Amino acid sequence: MGKELNTNQLVNKITEQKQKIDALEKEAEKNRFSRKLTQTLFDISDAVMSTENLNDLYSSIYHFLNKLLNLPNFFIAIYNEKKSSVKIPFFVDQFDSKIFYEKSIDVNASLTGEVILSQNPVFLTEEMLIERSRQKRIVGTTPKQWIGVPLIVQKKVIGIMAIQSYDNPQYFTRKDQDILVAVSNQVGIAIERKQNLDEIALLQNYLFNIINSMPSILVGVNKRQQVTQWNLQAQMETGIRLEDAVGKDVIELLPRLSQNMDQIAESIVSKQVKTSLKNSFQKKGDIQYEDIIIYPLITNGVDGAVIRMDNITDQVLLEEMMIQSEKMLSIGGLAAGMAHEINNPLAGMMQNTQVVYQRLSGDIPANNKVAEELGLKMGSIKEFMSRRGILETLEMINKTGGRAAKIITNMLSFARKSDTVFKANDLAALLLDTVELAKNDYDLKKQYDFKKICIETEFDPDIPRVLCDEGKIQQVFLNLFKNGAHAMHDISNPQKESRFILRLKKETNMVRIEVEDNGPGMNEDIQKRLFEPFFTTKEAGKGTGLGLSVSYFIIANDHKGKMYVKSTPGKCTTFIIQLPYFDGIDL
Ligand SMILES: Nc1ncnc2c1ncn2[C@@H]1O[C@H](COP(=O)(O)OP(=O)(O)OP(=O)(O)O)[C@@H](O)[C@H]1O
Ligand SMILES: [Mg+2]
Repeated sequence: MGKELNTNQLVNKITEQKQKIDALEKEAEKNRFSRKLTQTLFDISDAVMSTENLNDLYSSIYHFLNKLLNLPNFFIAIYNEKKSSVKIPFFVDQFDSKIFYEKSIDVNASLTGEVILSQNPVFLTEEMLIERSRQKRIVGTTPKQWIGVPLIVQKKVIGIMAIQSYDNPQYFTRKDQDILVAVSNQVGIAIERKQNLDEIALLQNYLFNIINSMPSILVGVNKRQQVTQWNLQAQMETGIRLEDAVGKDVIELLPRLSQNMDQIAESIVSKQVKTSLKNSFQKKGDIQYEDIIIYPLITNGVDGAVIRMDNITDQVLLEEMMIQSEKMLSIGGLAAGMAHEINNPLAGMMQNTQVVYQRLSGDIPANNKVAEELGLKMGSIKEFMSRRGILETLEMINKTGGRAAKIITNMLSFARKSDTVFKANDLAALLLDTVELAKNDYDLKKQYDFKKICIETEFDPDIPRVLCDEGKIQQVFLNLFKNGAHAMHDISNPQKESRFILRLKKETNMVRIEVEDNGPGMNEDIQKRLFEPFFTTKEAGKGTGLGLSVSYFIIANDHKGKMYVKSTPGKCTTFIIQLPYFDGIDL
């Protein structure tokens, strides 16, 4: 006989089985929830990288938790310990659309403060909330149930996460609080990581802006000398965009760095800064100068260097001009001193020559008297002089002495003279008057016809009058015209038309005068020396080399102006003069 179960036993068995099934189901539910919870933790952690910014992260966190717990009211508060303040960057709320954004924390005045300071979860029932509302410790609408859990990272509260119900005092259970606590650690870590990432992104952006607003070219290279960084200035200089530059050989993009390749390699290996100053290079036909500084990149494990290139052309030119003017003024002073010393003996020599000439040839009573006393005839003496060419020799002495005196006079103008007469002058009229003067200049006419030279003018309409010594400025213009006419006079190509362009421009506090010719120009060596006294390329007797030095003196010393030259060999020469004027003073 098999075992027969009576009804009671059967019922018990069934109940037992049902309990087992229930327990299993509970276990399965627990497992399901546990998997869901684990998934939520993963999702929150992933969101740190997958979201764009902190705000996106907050809403993702809410989205994940809402799936888990169904939260009609939720907020995240972030605590700033230093400022002792709390801000609520994210909330979902059925009633309050404007929760306080940033507020000083007061433990007694906010539920959030209560959680932060207790550093523990706070579960508030309806009665507890009514009590707190009475004590004015609730901001906004009073809920029927409120749970807040602290977000703790490395033992520090960084904020809280809170959930609430406005209508159901039993909406949440203690279990919901436990779940919130279980995810809070992950949420805290995620928020902090994102805060750091946001900060780094901001910092990167900030650095990027700094780098791009620098006037220097900044190029990052790796140890294979391929471009890793390329700032705006580098893009402007080369016309190559950042995205096209990255990964290319730096030499390919900036060929002039080829002479610095060894330095770059050395800097990366030795971790030392290398500099190469005042390198010259050609840009659109002009010579430019730049400083190149190579900084080794000392970062974790990535070898490379940053190359900084600063264009210092203006600075170099200014320095050269200053050295030039300094040199000129001291040479000028020297020349003036010498001229003074030579002037007197020279005058004595010339006067005495005149006296000798007179006494040998002049038909004067004193000559005749002495000749008679000695039994000589003036006629014979004259004849002797003439046949021995003595009078011509004396005339030669006189003539060469005259030439020397002219040079001395020029040299004397290096000395600051008090007879400079300053008057308000119209420079356009002065330039055109000097052109007329040049056309009729006898010395000039002997060599080339100034009238055949084409004269173009480009005068700004509102050139102010300039205080200057009319005679001296005319002397400067005349020197420039003579030099230009001489330079443009090309016997080998008589067909070529000679042409001057005269320009007047108004600049800040200065009037700029330009005299441009289309002559052969001059090389850099000549340009560097042409303002020096006695520097000339003209054959002996044709030029003294004083024209430009005197002119320079008149402008720089007497008028406190500037004078310099720009020349393209084979094409043209432009002399530039800048004379100061005083704005607002009607002359
Ligand atoms: N417009 C120009 N084009 C080319 N070279 C020039 C020009 N002006 C001046 N120079 C050069 O500069 C040199 C110096 O000029 P500067 O006027 O000082 O002396 P100079 O003309 O040689 O002699 P001086 O003016 O005393 O008769 C000239 O010999 C010439 O080589
Ligand atoms: Mg000259």
